[in-house]
Amino acid sequence: MSRTDRAQPHTHNRIMSLETYKIIHLAGLMSLFLGLGGMVALQGHGSPPTKKLVSIFHGIGLLLLLFGGFGMLAKLPYGVFPGFAIAKGIVWLALGGMLVLGKRRVFSAGVTWMIAIVLGIIATWLGLMKPGATPKPITSMTQSSALIETFRNHTS
Ligand code: HEM
Repeated sequence: MSRTDRAQPHTHNRIMSLETYKIIHLAGLMSLFLGLGGMVALQGHGSPPTKKLVSIFHGIGLLLLLFGGFGMLAKLPYGVFPGFAIAKGIVWLALGGMLVLGKRRVFSAGVTWMIAIVLGIIATWLGLMKPGATPKPITSMTQSSALIETFRNHTS
């Protein structure tokens, strides 16, 4: 390892890259929603081992989301707590609490499902648009218009 590598450990780590953290983040999302969906389907019934299993899926999902999320933040230039990450933390807490809603049948399965989907959409929007982040992030919109511009200049 060269001196510069040691000085910038994050940018030189190929295995734990931004992409790796993103895959972990998305694996967490899948696991959380599988667990939550399982609990909503069980409606709080089901054998104790089955209920335990779906709760574990949900819990591991929460942990992976957090680990992947803060891992990405360590790679990105927005600091540890940009506005969008704080908002995502609130959504994360709400999705954590959702398991109890599923277990205790506070709302019907359909309503619980809708709340979970809306929370997921909010977190996705926050992750993609990154409101409150400085420097202004490159979104797919700015990225594709820059690509179109390059293409036009190249072909004309
Ligand atoms: C404290 C909790 C969280 C933190 C710190 C966090 C952090 C982040 C960060 C930094 C990104 C941007 C990645 C990039 O631009 O390369 C991101 C993207 C994303 N996050 Fe989160 N997140 C959190 C919670 C959640 C939750 C609860 C969900 C879903 C239910 C979620 C879903 C997503 C999705 C779908 C993306 C888009 C991935 C992409 O760029 O293609 N996040 N998150």
